[in-house]
Amino acid sequence: MRIAVLISGRGSNMLSLAGSLPHDAVHIVLVAANTPCEGLDHAAGLGLETLLVDRATFASKADHEAALGDAIEAVAVDWICLAGYMTILSAAFVERFAGRIINIHPSLLPDFKGLDTHGRALAAGVKHHGASVHLVTAALDDGPILLQAGLEMIPGEEATSLASRVLKLEHMLYPFVIASIANGDLTISGGSVFWKHQDMSLTRAGKAFERVLGPAVIWPCSG
Ligand code: GRF
Repeated sequence: MRIAVLISGRGSNMLSLAGSLPHDAVHIVLVAANTPCEGLDHAAGLGLETLLVDRATFASKADHEAALGDAIEAVAVDWICLAGYMTILSAAFVERFAGRIINIHPSLLPDFKGLDTHGRALAAGVKHHGASVHLVTAALDDGPILLQAGLEMIPGEEATSLASRVLKLEHMLYPFVIASIANGDLTISGGSVFWKHQDMSLTRAGKAFERVLGPAVIWPCSG
């Protein structure tokens, strides 16, 4: 299975995909960014193919997305994985790769779409917070959810600490979902999501998550 990963920043989720995905089954054939960023340097350091399609050098969003789309098409990927790609994709780009774009978002969707999810979750006083992997549609942080994992809030916790706990969860959740597509446990067809052996594979993954994050993990979880 061939994937392209799109980033805009530090690239920690890209690194978790590169480090955790089974190399015989999933090939990251391109890491592309829309702005110069440290994640691109990390990807190059791993020997991955990198590409900067710098938005600042294009006259319009449409021109930029056309160039990015052409570069992705040229390497023939099955999936495009957004990993901190900090711009909203146009309906035209989403349509061009319809049903083949996946995103990770740091909240239990449909709660807290958009930015500053951790601060808003704390302000709202929710009991659980976490991360969602979902198919991308033209609407922001929308689209069918593939899998979510949550954490219990710790009383008095600051947003930075919550953000770092959720990021660790993201680093396990995203590779698990992509590996599950590669091994056939997760099938996505026409916008519908089917998990095979759901109880068994999710229970096994949940135990691994708990070993890293402690008993605060809520798994599987729906927002
Ligand atoms: C992550 O929290 C991801 O869920 C969100 O943007 C952040 C990117 O972080 N979409 P990184 O660049 O992967 O470290």
